[in-house]
Amino acid sequence: MQTRIMQTNEESLALAKEIIEAGGLVAFPTETVYGLGANALNEDACRKIFVVKGRPNDNPLIVHVHRDYDISSLVTAIPEYAWRLRKAYLPGPLTMVFKSLGTVCPAVSCGLDTVAIRVPSNPKAQEFLRYVDLPVAAPSANISKHVSPTSAEHVLADFNGLIPLILDGGECTGGIESTVLDCTGPVPVVLRSGLVTREMVAAVAGDCRVHIPVAGEKVRSPGMKYSHYSPRCRTALYTEENISAAVARYDAECAKGAAVSFICLDETAQKLGSRRCLNIGRTAEEGARNLYRMLREGEKELDMIIGIAPAGRDGVMAGLMNRFEKACGGVYEES
Ligand code: TXA
Ligand code: MG
Repeated sequence: MQTRIMQTNEESLALAKEIIEAGGLVAFPTETVYGLGANALNEDACRKIFVVKGRPNDNPLIVHVHRDYDISSLVTAIPEYAWRLRKAYLPGPLTMVFKSLGTVCPAVSCGLDTVAIRVPSNPKAQEFLRYVDLPVAAPSANISKHVSPTSAEHVLADFNGLIPLILDGGECTGGIESTVLDCTGPVPVVLRSGLVTREMVAAVAGDCRVHIPVAGEKVRSPGMKYSHYSPRCRTALYTEENISAAVARYDAECAKGAAVSFICLDETAQKLGSRRCLNIGRTAEEGARNLYRMLREGEKELDMIIGIAPAGRDGVMAGLMNRFEKACGGVYEES
């Protein structure tokens, strides 16, 4: 199969619609990362997503709709706070989980009685979803466990020859996946942190909890249990307080002849002297925008990436930390 990359225009949108209606897959840009879309009402089409990505079949998909799509045909029991959140933050990088009406095909929810709904703000995503006018199930458009894609080139690198069409919308401005919020209970619960922060949700909904997975308990957001976002080279993870151990590790790896780089925020980068560093920027927002692109650039030429995790846990830093830890193996090393 030949994979075409096309700008969004009348011709590519018509082709995208034709492919989606025929049960095929189309990659498209969103403000967070690129998605790999299929008709959420077509079981065979949705199964293709799992096959092409190598995705575990218990990890449900997010359903994307345009801003005027009537989600009451897909979900039920929408709490009052969800309407307020919708008004405040949608379209945008917030995914809300509701009780399913069973309209979307079983592969989307993977046996759960809920569906995750997302209304992306990227104008090209909106154009695509409006043109297709179907609910589109879409995970991030990367091979399972690889770093999520923030450009059409990243999608092509993972799926060249495997999907027919990539709609090119340039670089994603958000850079990390949407916040996933469980809206099935009286208080919303963050299942995956992102650019719409717990604080932002609480400000509108009155309260917001954060789900912390407990070993042995039923997983509420199956995606979060898998290792994710990993670059294709060795990684190690250190805290800011343990920076001297990180530097010692770097120097030891260099002495062995390995091509090594740190990855961290600018403030930390300033403490690393002339050592090689993927500097993801000054703020959590900049870090989110740059993290995946820099991991993908780094993996091409490096043997090892050493992450020094930012210290904060509030706001967007919570989402950045989560991706950072997963990308660098999730286990902090000691001195
Ligand atoms: O920003 C994003 O959300 C991107 C773009 C393409 O929209 N999509 C994305 O999809 O990150 P994916 O498949 O990589 O991650 C979906 C996450 C997983 O952690 C999954 O477990 C969770 O959403 N999820 C999906 N449906 C769910 C449900 N019904 N209940 C709980 N979690 C759900
Ligand atoms: Mg993903």
